[in-house]
Amino acid sequence: MSDTPAPEHPNPGAPMSAAAVLRWYVAAGVDLAVGEEPVDRTQTPPPQIQLPAQAPPPRAEMPARAAPSAFLPPPPAPAADPATAQTLDELKERLEAFEGCLLRRTATRTVFGDGPATARLMVIGEAPGADEDRSGVPFVGKAGKLLDKMLASIGWPRETVYITNVVPWRPPGNRNPTPEEVTLCQPFVMRAIELVAPDAVVLLGASATAAICDRHDGITRLRGKWQTLARNGREIAVLPTFHPAFLLRFPDKKALVWRDLCALKARIGEPPQA
Ligand code: URA
Repeated sequence: MSDTPAPEHPNPGAPMSAAAVLRWYVAAGVDLAVGEEPVDRTQTPPPQIQLPAQAPPPRAEMPARAAPSAFLPPPPAPAADPATAQTLDELKERLEAFEGCLLRRTATRTVFGDGPATARLMVIGEAPGADEDRSGVPFVGKAGKLLDKMLASIGWPRETVYITNVVPWRPPGNRNPTPEEVTLCQPFVMRAIELVAPDAVVLLGASATAAICDRHDGITRLRGKWQTLARNGREIAVLPTFHPAFLLRFPDKKALVWRDLCALKARIGEPPQA
């Protein structure tokens, strides 16, 4: 998410040198190239997404819930299906082999998750930023530092919490992930919740709340309102709140998040002793 609006084109319609075009891109916030070689897309069609070798099942066997987007690939082969991964390591392997989301092509690393595999508290954000893309670890940049302080303030240091994102690849230029990208990656984060099996999950921001709770009424309305997620015969308490990146831009909202964190602490108590 960039805070700076794209600059006006200096002279719309006039020819520009390659160096001037490059400077203009940089000023507009373009911070990565998407391929080693330039491709003239007016001459070459874009590459097709590589889907699993398996043919789509006949219509009658399609899952009851309609696919939310025409761009969704067919269901994965059983060996690649996140829903049947038995451990976080296995889930990570399947995610790293997943070709269905184009974001992986522009990202440097897959940012899976960080923390104890049996954590009682799980925190889920939106998508990695530049620092996370470089390190492969979620929430290590400015927003991550604030998240660490938020967790420490209620006596749950980062090391006691499992931290991940809905989307494991950095969207180019830090744009928000699209609903299609979120939908494509959602089965992986859902399985991560099942495998960690925490008592409570904190959802940071609107994308995480939409992906996990299927609630689209906006984070301002939903923050601080406990939700329930039924998984593997258990009910997990879920608390949406503002994303720390939002708090960095609007520090006056920190008081509301402090209220949410106190409610969380009242519900889950102390972390397990090391
Ligand atoms: N913002 C997120 O949502 N996740 C990260 O890992 C970092 C920043």
